[in-house]
Amino acid sequence: MTKIAVFASGSGSNFQAIAECIERGELNAKIELVVTDKPGAFVVTRAQKFNIPVLELTPKTFDSKAAYEQAVIKALREKDVEWIILAGYMRLISDTLLAAFPNRIINIHPSLLPSFPGKDAISQAFEHGVKVTGVTVHYVDAGMDTGPIIAQAAVEVAGTLDETEKLIHATEHQLYTKTLQQLFAQK
Ligand code: GAR
Repeated sequence: MTKIAVFASGSGSNFQAIAECIERGELNAKIELVVTDKPGAFVVTRAQKFNIPVLELTPKTFDSKAAYEQAVIKALREKDVEWIILAGYMRLISDTLLAAFPNRIINIHPSLLPSFPGKDAISQAFEHGVKVTGVTVHYVDAGMDTGPIIAQAAVEVAGTLDETEKLIHATEHQLYTKTLQQLFAQK
């Protein structure tokens, strides 16, 4: 069983998809900790429903980004976390955390990278007028939504922005859980 931590800054629908997949016995993993940089984010409520501990930290209350990440690393080490799963964690990861978990941090992004990195990727793609967009799962490096790609899924843009967002999120939930199943089976 693989011990993981999920990092999220917002709603946490990807967290929920992973937690449900584990509950159904389809993913051989345990979410040891949810880490959020936005205390009170909806992901906290979701995590409580699964009885998963949450570390809520406010990065700007630390002297430096390194000090913030050291506090996160301490909590992860205490729980023997092996993999970090970013799920809407809207903060760059720096060398402190990258060095502590080499090749063990992955992210999901709601576009076909390298197109439309950063915030609001779904509306960026929609406003650009692309006919196909999608979802990417990738290893994390120090860049913004960069790092080696692990898996992608395409989504056709046929309806409104709202409809496209719903399709993208549903695709994310499927692609992330499937990719984690494959990654953890290999290790
Ligand atoms: C997801 O669409 C995820 O791909 C995106 O944030 C959303 C979080 O939703 N991440 C990024 O844009 C990373 N650059 P959720 O909180 O409901 O899982």
